[in-house]
Amino acid sequence: MGKEFLYIFEEWAKDYDQTVSGKDEEYKEVFRGYDDILDTVARASVGKVLEFGAGTGNLTAKLLDKGHEVIVIEPSIPMREIAQQKLQSERIEFVDGDFLQYPSLENIDSVVSTYAFHHLTDQEKADAVKEYGKLLGVNGKIVFADTMYESKEAHYIAIEDAKKQGFMQLAKDLQTEYYTTIPYLQTVFEDNGFTVSFKRSNQFVWILEAIKL
Ligand SMILES: C[S@@+](CC[C@H](N)C(=O)[O-])C[C@H]1O[C@@H](n2cnc3c(N)ncnc32)[C@H](O)[C@@H]1O
Repeated sequence: MGKEFLYIFEEWAKDYDQTVSGKDEEYKEVFRGYDDILDTVARASVGKVLEFGAGTGNLTAKLLDKGHEVIVIEPSIPMREIAQQKLQSERIEFVDGDFLQYPSLENIDSVVSTYAFHHLTDQEKADAVKEYGKLLGVNGKIVFADTMYESKEAHYIAIEDAKKQGFMQLAKDLQTEYYTTIPYLQTVFEDNGFTVSFKRSNQFVWILEAIKL
């Protein structure tokens, strides 16, 4: 994992919970309804959950509240430390790794993530979904909330809108992170034996729910 990645999350970890609460004007819309989005993902999860990119543990807390056993994978040490300080439970296990590299795991019923899947390129997303398809049994679920677009044109319009509003950091993120399109994800999930649906949560975030056939 590159130095730039570590730097971004080391810097962001201590202020992250303030950003999601809407204090940062540029990202207010991205995180609008953050709590409801995490609640929806937690409600849609079943059984033993594998969570990627848990950050400061806000979704993890909701999964624990709902009685799930949770395996957490968070590559940023400062983020993980905050999550570990917040969450004390016998039903949580922190495991080293990232979306694509993790120890061999068994009996996983759901794979979940919020605001993180865009860290993978489109090819990496396809590779990851292929692996999760092997990890999950029939009726196993993948529930991801993240920024995604109905088309490449919609993505382009969002970048231009951010620039018009003077949100230059947001515009840069939208151009440099690997935000993808719903049609691409639909193909990836269906090709790997899932049925998938998408529901919009705000101007940026959609919730993807996939079930293994
Ligand atoms: C915007 S934060 C989201 C945190 C949390 N899931 C939430 O909803 O508040 C993105 C998280 O993804 C993690 N991340 C970045 N690249 C990752 C990767 N390749 N695999 C797993 N997690 C990754 C970061 O360390 C960071 O904690």
